Amino acid sequence: MNRALVVLLVFDLTTSALLAQRVTSDTTYKQTYRPQYHFSARNNWLNDPNGLVYYDGEYHLFYQYNPFGIRWGHMTWGHAISRDLVHWQELPSAIPEENGTMIYSGSCVVDKTNTSGFGQDGHIPLVAVYTGAKTGNQSQHIAYSLDKGRTWTKYAGNPVIDLKQKDFRDPKVFWYEPSQHWVMVVLLPTDKKALFYKSTNLKEWTKTGEFTANDSPATVWECPDLVEVPVDGTMERKWVLFLSMGNNAPAGGSGIQYYVGRFNGSTFINESKPGDIRFVDWGKDYYAAITFNNLPRRGNRGAISIGWMNNLQYANDIPTTPFRGTMTLPRELRLAKILAPALRYELRQQPIQELKPLLNTSFQWTGTDVAQLNQSLASNSLSGDTYCLQLEFEAAKTGVGVRVKKDEATSGKGEETIIGYDPSKQQLYVDRSRSGDVSFKKEFPGRFTAPLKPQNGKISLQIWVDRSSVEVFGNNGEVTLTNQIFPKPESRGIEFFGDGFRSVLIRSVEPIWK
Ligand code: FRU
Repeated sequence: MNRALVVLLVFDLTTSALLAQRVTSDTTYKQTYRPQYHFSARNNWLNDPNGLVYYDGEYHLFYQYNPFGIRWGHMTWGHAISRDLVHWQELPSAIPEENGTMIYSGSCVVDKTNTSGFGQDGHIPLVAVYTGAKTGNQSQHIAYSLDKGRTWTKYAGNPVIDLKQKDFRDPKVFWYEPSQHWVMVVLLPTDKKALFYKSTNLKEWTKTGEFTANDSPATVWECPDLVEVPVDGTMERKWVLFLSMGNNAPAGGSGIQYYVGRFNGSTFINESKPGDIRFVDWGKDYYAAITFNNLPRRGNRGAISIGWMNNLQYANDIPTTPFRGTMTLPRELRLAKILAPALRYELRQQPIQELKPLLNTSFQWTGTDVAQLNQSLASNSLSGDTYCLQLEFEAAKTGVGVRVKKDEATSGKGEETIIGYDPSKQQLYVDRSRSGDVSFKKEFPGRFTAPLKPQNGKISLQIWVDRSSVEVFGNNGEVTLTNQIFPKPESRGIEFFGDGFRSVLIRSVEPIWK
């Protein structure tokens, strides 16, 4: 054996601890399952997005983070910033766990007029409102930053609300312009109760209302959001209360439901019909999404949200390393006003326009013959494993759709993730039963469906495929299905099936990591 190799081997064996360290501080973003255009932390565990806020040219993404490991624990606010909502730069952790108090989910506001008095020398404070969690008690705390979120000081008068409760968490705070005060929506999760508070200085809070809903299938609510959303084709805006459901979501496990109504500064008045439960996403991996505070003026464009692409059933077990946990694409939220049979408002979600510069046209096809479509795709040198598919087809009699991340070596029995439409049931579905590694938890594999009716006889799909996820937007965001997948890197095939195709556009998506 070559001497240098022996030395290297011995070195390898005797310094495994060091090597392990090197692996966990991998900064390449090139690992097998590393999302290429979704945010994930370089290392370790992350869950909910927290404190989404825009300030002075920067979008801030804070998140539930474990600085010490790849499983949930030691909750700290991790931190990343972006100038375009697409490319993210991870910064040192923002707010650390301290003296046994973990920093749970919450939000962040820009205190422009220094209502809190935390501002100094003309520096506008960013104020984070989060749950301080210790054994047997959860209470609401605040911290502030005078240097654009880089360093934080916890308020000496914490907690700002303590009900002496074991479960009392996830404050969402925003400025309510009509009556010039701050509003907090915060949950008693196991009572499925949202509480509303108001404040003029972010330190002293007065309770103003409560919301419960007997029709929710969940047994636990987490991570509320209350936001005004524009209604398509009108000058109207309606308030939407989002509630993450810890269980009993349509695909099983965790998910998000929403109610549409009014907000009068004190409490939310639900206008959704009782029993008419609305879900934000029909896939398995969309949780704890919240919207940005203080977005720059956007005309009548919608609110923007980011979710945690995971499910509480198996979040600790997904086979990624040296990181665990990914954020979804940012989505623009709007409402559609449906007049018949009875007036109601339905959520519409689209990937934000800011993603467009990442897209390069790779394959374009119009026609009706699926064999010809597959042939022309085969002769096209589509490269890369991250892409956005845009399909339009007639919802004819047979099932129609596409298989992605398909292992072509094993002739039909290998890996594939199927995105399809079943016209007889008017259902859009994603089947990840054989999508790759599905063995780590029995709740992972499966086929998940969303109700979707054709529009003028047609269905259009936008499908964002990354190394370990598939996000599907049906009929311009009428329904979405978000799912993780863990295929082999070699499983790169794309194959269309069924009748009724009209057009296909495939655009490769550039990685956001340099
Ligand atoms: C939701 C959640 C929140 C809590 C946080 C702790 O995933 O359980 O309710 O604040 O995660 O990490």
